[in-house]
Amino acid sequence: MDLKDKIAIVTGGASGIGLAIAKALHARGARVAIADLNAASASETGKALGGFGERVDVGDESALVRFINKVERSLGPVDIYISNAGLGVTDGPGWGAGDAPNASWDVCWQVNVMGSVFAARHLARKIATRKGHFVITASAAGLLAQIGDAPYSATKAAAVSFAECLAITHGDEGLNVHCLCPEGVRTPLVEGIEGGAQGLGGYLEAETVAETLLSAMEAKRFLVMTHENTPGYVAAKGQDRDRWVGGMRKLRRMLVENLGRPM
Ligand SMILES: NC(=O)c1ccc[n+]([C@@H]2O[C@H](COP(=O)([O-])OP(=O)(O)OC[C@H]3O[C@@H](n4cnc5c(N)ncnc54)[C@H](O)[C@@H]3O)[C@@H](O)[C@H]2O)c1
Repeated sequence: MDLKDKIAIVTGGASGIGLAIAKALHARGARVAIADLNAASASETGKALGGFGERVDVGDESALVRFINKVERSLGPVDIYISNAGLGVTDGPGWGAGDAPNASWDVCWQVNVMGSVFAARHLARKIATRKGHFVITASAAGLLAQIGDAPYSATKAAAVSFAECLAITHGDEGLNVHCLCPEGVRTPLVEGIEGGAQGLGGYLEAETVAETLLSAMEAKRFLVMTHENTPGYVAAKGQDRDRWVGGMRKLRRMLVENLGRPM
């Protein structure tokens, strides 16, 4: 995969997995623009990676489109879009599956799902003509579930589904779509919830996840799982959903016993 002088946008690129992906793309010759809520870090990172960065809320379509237009004007047509900005909220303090307030559900939907939809609406066809790449950072929680965070689980499942729609719809036009589904990765996102189910397979460094993604992009692979046991869990869920729900209930009981809460 020749990334020399390719133009990439990374959302949530000021921290964690997005930052590691942005650096890995730049190390192979790409110029990277960063969209993130964190203005200072986005700007500093973007400049260091041959592009620029700004405060953008990916859940705000007009702000995201303004940013995309600016990237196209100042750097050139976009070859790679990494829709990576995302957040979790938890079901706490009540820990019922419907207990998170509406505002928490709304922000998860806007950022974890619509952030990718807005970008695809404005860029999927253009990137397809350049045979470029569109990456959605979903999560293993989107394939399985994040115990203790129903809004995260449901919106990441929607993110996986949207990535599938994107690949089915625009694959024939030349768009390479990748759906990144890690379990635990050592980033600020998991600070304070390290004991949750996402950590059972061990925490990977963001740089390792970025390298796995770049290999998958090179191989044009759609589903990118980063942890050893994820494929087995996904297969088991596919084979017998009732058994899988039973296993997850057991795991939740164990987590509550150990942590006093499910995550
Ligand atoms: N860390 C993990 O264990 C893990 C596992 C699976 C999936 N993920 C996913 O990886 C992605 C990156 O997470 P991370 O772990 O690197 O976390 P992180 O908190 O280090 O980085 C997330 C970045 O996204 C930015 N962001 C949040 N909301 C935004 C918005 N509305 N608009 C623009 N930027 C926004 C934040 O400012 C932050 O810089 C997320 O989508 C997350 O759900 C993380």
